[in-house]
Amino acid sequence: MSQKRYQIAVIPGDGTGPEVIREALKVLNAAEKRFGFSLALTSYDLGGERYLKTGEILPESVLGELRGFDAILLGAIGHPGITPGLLEKGILLQMRFDLDLYINLRPVKLFPGVECPLKDKGPEHIDYVVVRENTGDVYTGAGGVMMKGTPHEVATQISLYSRHQVDRCLKYAFEYARRRNKRRTLALCGKTNVLTYVYEMWERAFHEMGDRDYKDIKREYYHVDAICMWMIKNPEWFDVIVTGNMFGDIITDLAAITQGGLGIAASGNINPKGASMFEPMGGSAPKYAGKNVINPLAAICAGAMMLDTLGETAAAKTVEDAVIWVTANKVRNLAAGQMGYSTTEVGDLVATRVAG
Ligand code: IPM
Ligand code: MN
Repeated sequence: MSQKRYQIAVIPGDGTGPEVIREALKVLNAAEKRFGFSLALTSYDLGGERYLKTGEILPESVLGELRGFDAILLGAIGHPGITPGLLEKGILLQMRFDLDLYINLRPVKLFPGVECPLKDKGPEHIDYVVVRENTGDVYTGAGGVMMKGTPHEVATQISLYSRHQVDRCLKYAFEYARRRNKRRTLALCGKTNVLTYVYEMWERAFHEMGDRDYKDIKREYYHVDAICMWMIKNPEWFDVIVTGNMFGDIITDLAAITQGGLGIAASGNINPKGASMFEPMGGSAPKYAGKNVINPLAAICAGAMMLDTLGETAAAKTVEDAVIWVTANKVRNLAAGQMGYSTTEVGDLVATRVAG
């Protein structure tokens, strides 16, 4: 039988990015050996250091190459010596736009053993997925500043959504809820009482699509402010949540802390028909860089999502099970420096378990 071979671009990036990517690759390597597929890795040095050395952020040629991969694994972007936003917009957001990674998939799952800040909530209560739209909203950069530096300065940043963007995101979310087959419930998170143009369109599109194609999926609606309360009080209500880019950014950090924080939260930037990019949700955490204390589990979980998307579902499940074993038996506090193990030791624990 010929071995499945996948072309993977690896972007370790800034700060703790390279450290967590090293552990993710260690685990993926164990999965390759056990499951008999292979990952051909090509590394890209995008990030703060390259920018400081060469002035390049995301060269067009690199972008072109990235399109040709089966998947992209990214560590973190963000450098303390560079104006905030420059690299984030220039690399992360640019990739999301140019590779049309229109879904940001963010599973929220409390693993056994992990300390949860919510009273009386355990793994049986926290297991849902946020489908965050990833190409529109205030992220498009529409807007501007006028009379800058004067007392009359005006700044705008416009929330833009096309029906096309909304429809393709909703379709992905409905399909996801069906495939997940858990509570078969899709909750739209919006703000129809104030954002009466944008979220009215989302809500109309949501019900039109649901009535037409997804009668088997129950529909719910929450305003974004209210959902923040319910995610804390009754996280067990949720199965799949779909929302716009900005609300999705905010509620997924809130969700992340309920599953143990950014040490464990992974995300997939998905183009269902192209190269998708997987990353830990946390940033480059410069203050922890080079100390071997950062938690690599989020990057490892991003690697598992990548395997799942590539179709290596058994391997993906094995990696997730290995992470669950590690949280249940070894690492209970997921915060950097408080794990009781170093970054490399946590990677070793998971990789050994994956190796079987
Ligand atoms: C995220 C991050 C990014 C975002 C930043 C770094 C641009 O917060 O992936 O959630 O806002 O999307
Ligand atoms: Mn964010």
